[in-house]
Amino acid sequence: MLNAERIREDFPILKRKVYGKPLVYLDNAATTQKPRQVIQATNDYYETYNSNVHRAVHRLSQEATAAYDEAHEKVAGFIGAECMEEVVFTKNTTESINLVASSLSQQLQKGDEIVLTQMEHHSNIVPWQQAAKRTGAKLRFLEIDGNGELKLQHNSATSGMCNRTSSDLQLRQTIGKKTKIVAFTHVSNVLGTINPAKEIIAAAKEIGAVTVVDAAQSVPHMPVNVKELGCDFLAFSAHKMLGPTGVGVLYGKRELLEGMEPFLYGGDMISEVSLEGAKWNELPWKFEAGTPNMAGAVGLTAAVDYLQKVGMENVWEHEILLTKLALKRLQEIEGVAVYGPKDAAKRSGLVAFNLNGAHPHDVSAFLDAAGIAVRGGHHCAMPLARLLGTAGSTRASFYLYNTTQEIEKFAEALGKIAAKLKKPAQTAESWAKSDNRL
Ligand code: ALA
Repeated sequence: MLNAERIREDFPILKRKVYGKPLVYLDNAATTQKPRQVIQATNDYYETYNSNVHRAVHRLSQEATAAYDEAHEKVAGFIGAECMEEVVFTKNTTESINLVASSLSQQLQKGDEIVLTQMEHHSNIVPWQQAAKRTGAKLRFLEIDGNGELKLQHNSATSGMCNRTSSDLQLRQTIGKKTKIVAFTHVSNVLGTINPAKEIIAAAKEIGAVTVVDAAQSVPHMPVNVKELGCDFLAFSAHKMLGPTGVGVLYGKRELLEGMEPFLYGGDMISEVSLEGAKWNELPWKFEAGTPNMAGAVGLTAAVDYLQKVGMENVWEHEILLTKLALKRLQEIEGVAVYGPKDAAKRSGLVAFNLNGAHPHDVSAFLDAAGIAVRGGHHCAMPLARLLGTAGSTRASFYLYNTTQEIEKFAEALGKIAAKLKKPAQTAESWAKSDNRL
């Protein structure tokens, strides 16, 4: 069990006031706050050994190179990768997915299929749409049900025909012989749903499809091990896990990365250049063209150290506690419609909702006036918002430094806002039952 009050002392920003009220920061799915340890590590880098990496023999460059390479090692250990060669640093999750989509699309042909889910963030839709456009491949989608979960367990009556489970059958209706890539979010940034990643990956593997996991909302919040998942690629961002902005991670199986074309071309990603052509550098540098974000990488090392010290199991346990409380309190407020699974164990530490037909930006603005930071809008998942029959939602998302008192404050403020708004309510119940909306 972690001690959130103790952890908060490491985060200078959490001491600040907004409109004279203590900040309650519940926008962690967008970006997280940084502990002193991360800020200090970044400052140390600039104050004592700032230099370009992999280029010079001078002392500062050696130190910067060692720290930059160590960041790859650190991340490899954190997610259970085989070695640092399997860890490519990018700008963010979006760039990581673009890298894979761009490189893999060179192996796609007309008629091939790319399977996504209906709950993807734009960063795991648009790159594949473009890949499909370029190659003539087709996009298919795993559907979601009224509870905000993938429709994987609904046809048990039809599963008697063989040893496969009902979910196997559901997956196989979408993942078929033509499927070359299965790319899906591990945790939805709107519904909070934790998808059955192992099961989806196993189904994809059976027909030889490549799997890409958008782990932007899972790696920061729960123990994630790429070997246990069995995925081919996995993407996430440092800034959503206490680290700096501008550093993303792409995990890729070594043999797959070795067979792929680079994404960007230029300095450091080459081993040899002549006027006629070039040879590529070894992994992971082949995919890291140009001067990278050294300070960001150093900050990411400190962030991983911090999370490992707290323990990802503890982070996860704490978030379930906060989510359970938030779900309970929100359900007590008349007119609140919560999206996603009702069972906190099936979701991660975020809750998106609508209130009495009010615009999410208005609800967010009311909460902001109470010092509570949440996100309102479509959360970069417009197709999902449409399926839910909304223009968007208000989202409160939690992390290891949030407390039960903050959840109570948030619920109390929301209760007051609800009382001000008079339009007829759409309840969570009615939303969940209206499967035809999806
Ligand atoms: N992807 C981030 C979010 O969901 C920005 O808010």
